[in-house]
Amino acid sequence: MEVVIAPAEELAVLAADAIEALLRRDPATVLGLATGSSPLRVYDELARRHREDGLSFADARGFMLDEYVGLDAAHPQRYRNVIETEIASRVEWPADQVSGPDGLADDIPAACAAYERAIADAGGVDLQLLGIGTDGHIAFNEPGSSLASRTRIKTLTAQTRVDNARFFGDDVDQVPTHCLTQGLGTIMQARHLVLLATGRQKAEAVHQLVEGPISAMWPGTVMQLHPHATVLVDDAAASRLQLGDYYRQTFASKPDWQGL
Ligand code: GLP
Repeated sequence: MEVVIAPAEELAVLAADAIEALLRRDPATVLGLATGSSPLRVYDELARRHREDGLSFADARGFMLDEYVGLDAAHPQRYRNVIETEIASRVEWPADQVSGPDGLADDIPAACAAYERAIADAGGVDLQLLGIGTDGHIAFNEPGSSLASRTRIKTLTAQTRVDNARFFGDDVDQVPTHCLTQGLGTIMQARHLVLLATGRQKAEAVHQLVEGPISAMWPGTVMQLHPHATVLVDDAAASRLQLGDYYRQTFASKPDWQGL
């Protein structure tokens, strides 16, 4: 696992560089998309590169991590709509090339199985962007999630609903109680995991993710088993890392050509 500690703007550039390198090498790259505030600077940077440097998403595919259950199709907080607003529309990404789990399906298990098949049929995810919840969840794999889980329905914890109330007019009752989420086993099949975390409220989750024992209680710790995982954190989110100085030194001495 590579840990990079830098200001948030630099982290976004590093993540965008990794995505751009993939798209330039293979325009049909498969990207894994995350919602939440953590990837927003990356999306801003990709939109800028699309606008100014012609970075094209015309042949790329995108798969989202998760979706709320039951939010109507036009709801602005439905994750498919958030992704459309924050990235897809800004890079002129054809709508039928970006998919998410269907939170409005009548047959939820069938929809989850279909989503797993769609990812596999696309050849798997090349680079998966991730954030982390304050309780250590990645996507919506809440504490207690099987480390081998696949796309399925989950109940959101009270903590996650409080954390996400800011997107619902600070009214926790408006936050859905359930979601569909790629499982930890699904996420682990992506070829490169890139997790972003900023702010002191993420410090304990980041410490556990990087340095804690692998445990379903801190679902992000499964990333320790991934052969190509990158954790991009600012000083505040890195503040509880025991080996922070070592990660700083390692990154400072890394040759420029190496990338993430
Ligand atoms: C949300 C999302 C996750 C996200 C996490 C952190 O609930 N389902 O994919 O990574 O919580 O969100 P934020 O980046 O806004 O802190």
